[in-house]
Amino acid sequence: MARVFSGIQPSGELHIGNYLGAVQNWVKLQHQHDCLFCVVDLHAVTQPYDTATLAQRTTDMAIGLFASGIDPARAVVFVQSHVPEHAELYWLLNTVTPLGELERQTQFKDKAQRQESVPAGLLNYPVLQAADVLLYEATLVPVGEDQLQHLELMREIARRWNTRFANGFSFPEPQALLSTAKRVLGLDGQAKMSKSLGNTIALFDAPETIWEKLKPAATDPARVTRKDPGNPEICNIFTIHQGFSPPATLTLVAHNCRTAGWGCLDCKRVLADNMIAALTPIRERAERLQAEPRRVADLLRAGAAKARALARRTMTQVRRRMGFLEAADQGGGAV
Ligand code: TYM
Repeated sequence: MARVFSGIQPSGELHIGNYLGAVQNWVKLQHQHDCLFCVVDLHAVTQPYDTATLAQRTTDMAIGLFASGIDPARAVVFVQSHVPEHAELYWLLNTVTPLGELERQTQFKDKAQRQESVPAGLLNYPVLQAADVLLYEATLVPVGEDQLQHLELMREIARRWNTRFANGFSFPEPQALLSTAKRVLGLDGQAKMSKSLGNTIALFDAPETIWEKLKPAATDPARVTRKDPGNPEICNIFTIHQGFSPPATLTLVAHNCRTAGWGCLDCKRVLADNMIAALTPIRERAERLQAEPRRVADLLRAGAAKARALARRTMTQVRRRMGFLEAADQGGGAV
């Protein structure tokens, strides 16, 4: 069994890009591997945010994960800031991370462009991400395509730490695991689906909202009139179909697109029906969990306790290899 780790920011809205690119895969992986899934609130504070809503958004994201099918009896689900070892390992990994690599990260460049004053936390964001994964010696990281550059840097950081400090203990080099919908575009078809761009379908959108959003959504740009044949391979609606429709429907959709047997609206209606069928039970489970905040808090407390036990073991090894004086209360055991 491999160790799997992945994270999601508490943006407050789980959208179908997150779901198809990552979370749907997490639900499958929990049956095959030893999985940890984390709501990464420390990452979320690297950009301007509202302190009044961060805690609720964190709870809501955890509810979204449970409602999507992550089973707390199979996978460890927890909040990043509840396990302080993430911040400690982050600091130590900073000491082996090349500044030039951080400055080259496209996500950093994009986000920095949108801010007047760029905080160092935004630059160091991928180091914290490396700490998240390496803390649990995870080898598989199920993510969307936008995270690949961070994963590449994570491996580089692991190699550099290992070269300098490994001695009986070393970090494995984690691999990304992509889903078929590794890059879901927004409904405008212009950029990746992202809450900050306002081009999403949320996992908890009502059925009418889903249909209203799908109707005008961009399809194959070359399909101008109803009679033009389309190409499902370059159509974002087909990418979304792949996450929600069974194989026989996909074959039918692809055929009717290529032959112009269906218009885009016909294709979208089938998609809307399948999406609504898949998302309605998720929305209903989330509503039930929303009504039980104590239960959610208990699940997250239990998740953090399990994660912390693993994290502490790694940190004992890391501190020793890096030559720190052991504190009496760090539980490292007598030498
Ligand atoms: P975040 O919160 O932006 O997104 C969570 C996951 O959803 C995927 N995703 C998408 N996939 C396909 N199409 C899209 N339009 C789309 N939008 C989002 C993301 O790739 C991601 O897998 N830095 C990470 C969080 C993180 C993390 C980690 C991930 C922190 N530490 C350690 C893995 C391992 C992020 O911002 O994800």
